[in-house]
Amino acid sequence: MFCARIVRSIRLFLPRFFNNLMMNRTFTMIKPEAVAAGNAGKIIDMITSNGFKIIALKYTRLSSEEAGIFYEVHKERPFYGELVDYMASGPIFAAILEKDNAVEDFRKLIGATDPAQAEEGTLRKRFAESKAKNAVHGSDSDDNAAIEGNFFFSGRERY
Ligand code: CMP
Repeated sequence: MFCARIVRSIRLFLPRFFNNLMMNRTFTMIKPEAVAAGNAGKIIDMITSNGFKIIALKYTRLSSEEAGIFYEVHKERPFYGELVDYMASGPIFAAILEKDNAVEDFRKLIGATDPAQAEEGTLRKRFAESKAKNAVHGSDSDDNAAIEGNFFFSGRERY
């Protein structure tokens, strides 16, 4: 009886354990122009129907200071000031997403930075206005996904 219980627990637990080992996470923002255009719902629908599970989700707005810190890596780029002003210009959705190979697969789903170069079927092809106002952000590495997710979410905001 006791043994059967243990075997059943192991059977239930193991797939979850291996699933969690294989899954990884990325971070995304639905940017101000896409939210203002009323496209957030369609974008979230496309994200989840492509196999990404939402671990955390927040409707929020960055201050100029916060946008400056978030995009500090681009500080030396000529578009940094424009990028910071734009990202602080209105509310956004921020989210942590989970999927096997999340970072790479999400970069594929969002498409090239410049929507003119983005492939058909990608989020930026469908929703982005321009290279600057490109609708969706996606982390470029596992390390940055963790840093960016931690910027917006505490441990108890993730499910
Ligand atoms: P994102 O994926 O959020 O990462 C950096 C952002 O900088 C990028 O999306 C664009 O919004 C913005 N960006 C990149 N290149 C340019 C550019 N040449 N001009 C203006 N904005 C840019």
